[in-house]
Amino acid sequence: MTSKSHGRKSITISAKPRDLMEENRLSGVWSAQVITLLPQAFPGVLGESLTGKALRDGLWQLSTINLRDYGLGKHNNVDDTPAGGGAGMVLRADVMSSAIDQALANSNGARAPLIYLSPRGRRFDQQMARNLARADGMTLICGRFEGLDERVLEQYNVMEVSLGDFVMTGGELAAQAMIDATVRLLPGVLGNAESAVEESFSNGLLEHPQYTKPAEWRERAIPDVLMSGHHGEIAKWRQMMSEAITRARRPDLWSAARAGLLDDAVASVRDANGLTEFLRRYGEEAVTGQRLLSLLEQRGHDIALPNNPWQAAAQLFWLSTRR
Ligand SMILES: C[S@@+](CC[C@H](N)C(=O)[O-])C[C@H]1O[C@@H](n2cnc3c(N)ncnc32)[C@H](O)[C@@H]1O
Repeated sequence: MTSKSHGRKSITISAKPRDLMEENRLSGVWSAQVITLLPQAFPGVLGESLTGKALRDGLWQLSTINLRDYGLGKHNNVDDTPAGGGAGMVLRADVMSSAIDQALANSNGARAPLIYLSPRGRRFDQQMARNLARADGMTLICGRFEGLDERVLEQYNVMEVSLGDFVMTGGELAAQAMIDATVRLLPGVLGNAESAVEESFSNGLLEHPQYTKPAEWRERAIPDVLMSGHHGEIAKWRQMMSEAITRARRPDLWSAARAGLLDDAVASVRDANGLTEFLRRYGEEAVTGQRLLSLLEQRGHDIALPNNPWQAAAQLFWLSTRR
């Protein structure tokens, strides 16, 4: 066992993953608290590789609150049958609120959003990870069984976050995924500062393909441009591939990325009034159905439209008057 000093408190490093977890907060260190019935599942994979090293180095900290400790009666019950009937069990509001109160007391006023992992929640994404990395930490509530009594979510104004449109048996894996994606954005966690700058979602696009040695494998060669040493050409190729992959696989991301590139005149259109004003300014007579049709015939496959329908109409108009 070795000991390292980190500001006010010293932490002890040992080979045992659970020893990576802190009983008390280190001041000024990004901190995740997890309310769970399975505290032994932590740090889990978070104790490995880059996140594990960063945890040992005191760049972030992790603690669990065992919901069972707040259970009621001889058997520390945490759940009960659903009101109105139905299958399964529901986590009790009174039990969960005791655990949340403990988490809030631990946070001691820190900016740490209270999040319930739930398939009903807002979908977790890279932007959310970026925002969470800018906070002081986060408190994650892992559900089990049929979930959590709604009243506790209302009472504490809890934000619900989903990992995706599927149902897992509990929130622990989702919590670990969210913590991993967030912690790797904290300063000093990634060895190479470039890695988080150029990867998927960093500029709203998916990443270009990556290659490494050998130069030829099973008669497949690495694209010549990557072997050319010409940095300008390599950057252009990567951008082009990023755009092509995003357009083919994720039209939603492609539209959003393109929306950021819209001319100011189009970007300002948000609703029917905005479109009316836009058409008044740029002359509605100028566009005929025939003109729109020929635009779509020539460039339809290449046009990405913003999600907002008023803006999409303005963009089509704009393109058809500019060619
Ligand atoms: C079996 S699920 C409960 C599902 C719930 N009855 C429903 O239909 O929405 C048990 C717990 O797993 C977690 N969970 C399951 N799927 C999830 C997902 N996609 N994202 C985040 N958490 C999830 C939640 O904490 C949830 O309370």
